[in-house]
Formats: sequence, C-alpha cells, structure tokens
Amino acid sequence: MTLPDHMEVRKGHLCIREHDMVALAARHGTPLYVTDEDRIVWNYRQYEQALRPYYPDTRILYAAKANGNLAVLRALACLGAGADVFSAGELHLALAAGMKPDSLLFNGSSKSPGDLALAVEKGVIVSVDSLDELHQLDAAAGQAGKRAAIAFRVNPALDVPTHPKIATGLATSKFGIAHEMIPAAYDEALGCEYIDPIGIHCHIGSQILSVEPFARACEVMVRIAGVITDMGVRLKFIDLGGGLGIPYHRPDDHAPTPTEYAEAVMPVFRKGITAAGISPSLWIEPGRSLVADSTILLTRVNSVKTAHRTFVNIDAGFNLLVRPVMYDSYHEVLTANRADQRGTTLCTVAGPICETGDILASDRFLPDPVAGDILALLDCGAYGFAMSSQYNSRPRCPEILLKGNMAALMRRGETISDLTCTMQSPPWQKQD
Ligand code: LLP
Repeated sequence: MTLPDHMEVRKGHLCIREHDMVALAARHGTPLYVTDEDRIVWNYRQYEQALRPYYPDTRILYAAKANGNLAVLRALACLGAGADVFSAGELHLALAAGMKPDSLLFNGSSKSPGDLALAVEKGVIVSVDSLDELHQLDAAAGQAGKRAAIAFRVNPALDVPTHPKIATGLATSKFGIAHEMIPAAYDEALGCEYIDPIGIHCHIGSQILSVEPFARACEVMVRIAGVITDMGVRLKFIDLGGGLGIPYHRPDDHAPTPTEYAEAVMPVFRKGITAAGISPSLWIEPGRSLVADSTILLTRVNSVKTAHRTFVNIDAGFNLLVRPVMYDSYHEVLTANRADQRGTTLCTVAGPICETGDILASDRFLPDPVAGDILALLDCGAYGFAMSSQYNSRPRCPEILLKGNMAALMRRGETISDLTCTMQSPPWQKQD
C-alpha cells in the first residue's frame, strides 16, 4: 500500500500533512470524517494546468453531489469553479458558496415544476433531459417573463468500463436524449418562444480508469455540435461531464491524470470545433477526482471477534459510507494508531448496522486488531458523507476540515435530538 502524497506516517500515527489523525480522533471522537482542503485545491489545479494550455476557455464545474459540504463548495468557488447541480438543494448550496448562476448547470433526468421554476428564477442554465421537460421549461420561463438558457443532455450510447450502476451513457440508461435524436431536439428548442439553446452536455459515467471513452464521447459531441451549428444553434459551451476515476487500489490501479485526460480529449475537441467553425467554452464536471482522496473516515474498533473469520467491529457502517455495500467498492483501511506495523491478521471490517451486508472491507490484513484501535478508511471524500443516512437511528458524525496547520469543524455531529427534530406527533397520539 502506498499513501497519497498528502499523507504520511509519523511516530506510528497516520498523519495528513502535519495533522495527527489519532490526536484528532481523540479530540473530536469517532466516527469522524476528515477532509484536507489543500488536497482539493491541488486536485483542482491539476485540471487547470492540464487543460488551459490546450484551450484557455475551459471551465471546471464541480459535481456538487460528490461532496455537498458548503466549506468544500466555498473552497472550490474561491478557485473559480462553477458547479454541476442536480437538485434544488445543490443549487442553493452552490449559490450560497458564492458561485455565479451562469457558472452552474442544473442537471437531472427528473426535474419537478419547482426545480424548473427555480432555475428560471435564478437564471441558471438547464441541462434538458427530454422534450417533455423542454416544453415545461419553455412554459415556466414564459410565465416568469424570462428566457431560459439550455443545453441538451446527449446520450452517446457508449459502453464504459465501470460499475453498471454508475455507467450513465449507455443506450439503455435513463439519462439524456439518444444522440441520433439530438438535432431534432435542438430544432424543437429553436422553435420555443422562451428558450435559448446555448450548450450541449453529456456525462458518460463515473470511476472510469481509461481516457479512451472520454475521447470517444468528445468525438460524438463535436460531431453533433457541427450539425446543430449548421442548423443555426449558436453554441457557447460544450460540456463533456465528469467521470475520471481515482486509484482506490493503490498502487495497483492506474487512474489517468488530468494531463492524460487532456492529451486524449483535447486534440479531438480542437479538431472537431475547428471543423465546425466554432469556438465554444469547454466545460467539464469532475466530482470524485477533485475530492475523493482529500478525505478519510476515522472509526474506532469497538470489539474484535474471532469466529470463522476475524471480525473487526467498528463504529462506522454503511450509514456513513455506503459505497462498499452499494457498489462492492474498495476503500483502503489502515490502523491509524499503528500505521507503521505490518498487517498480520486477516480481517473482515464490519459496521454496527443491523444488516449482514454491513461490511466495509473484506479480507484485509491488519496489525493484530484490538478494541480501541483507530482505523482510517481512505478516499472517502466523494460520495461518502454525501450518501450517508441516519439508518438504525444513528446520528451522522462530524466533519473536520484541514487547511495548512489549521483544523476546524465543517459540520457538527448530529445529536439524538436531531433525530427527532423533524418528527411531529399526529394529533390522535396522546402526549404525556
Ligand atoms: N456530471 C454528472 C451529470 C453526473 O451525474 C456526475 C456523477 C458527475 C458529473 C461527476 O462524476 P465523477 O467525476 O464524480 O465521476 N455514487 C457513485 C457515483 C455516482 C456518480 C453520479 N454522477 C459512487 O459512489 O461511485
């Protein structure tokens, strides 16, 4: 196992730069999410430095679903990021973080009338997923006396090498409009009274560990861009979505760097727009690759049980990190308080949730585990806390943000009263 660059082992303890994770767990308790803002900044800069030399008019829209903490969004907003938002909640968070409405793309395959009215009110560009939605948006804009800028979400019918639940550009996927129907969709949009078609959008999937599918998607997108330009659409942006994977299995996985992504995609992009005679902005929507490796989940070993295997029972389960259970995902596990010791015991790392499937890591060698050990699950910054729940009525844990030598709460832990604070007593139930 190799650690990411911003982590190291000092005096046997896992550290994120100068911050000792064992001390942090002692101070704030466990479970505890810990995020390094400096790592997010570094990841963002990798994209900027890779893309801008090829094409200066590039915009990075952070996929807010990956980690919706306001402090994370603010850190990215300060760097000039916009956001891909997928709900009214994400839209509010992005605006609250200081992002400008015209740097946001409101995505989603099932937007409510309220979502559409909100997008119109805030002047946010909408990625339209169906003709039905197009006409609803046209009506909403007309009613508000405004115009709505849109892109269509293209389904490029691409099979990508990733978990089937997170491949979004398959012909059979629920997302987008089939690529062969896209010119007709723009034709329809040009005929709408209150719609300005200004962009084109796709997103082919997530945790993709090869750059080739992105180049193929780009090829489809620039070809369509040429066709719709000839029809009279004046494209201001082409959005290629997110999806670059990260090396959860270090050092075995090779995750393409933003530079490798740029080397594969940018020549296709430039050739295509030159052929189409246009010079739109290039937008991309990375989520995971910006935030995943910035964050670890610290959890305490409650007990160790030797049965037909050694169960290491921890205080975080799929209530806090659902990825292993939902996608069989791998997250590296380290014993943070003895990070210099070799793993000798084959362990199953099990959460406290009342389900057999609540296993966060299987068949891992850990240094002889004992109650009180602090384990660190790595690469939890994307789709970690964001997908957490209160299942089994467990309050969600706090989140800490690190920057330089500073550490502060970016979300307090929920309490037992937070569990009940939205509940109400129906009038027929007598209260004591
Ligand atoms: N743009 C759109 C329209 C998306 O739907 C997504 C992710 C992204 C961008 C960002 O993709 P990324 O760069 O993070 O791969 N919960 C799953 C991942 C679901 C991804 C959903 N869409 C997981 O934990 O692996």
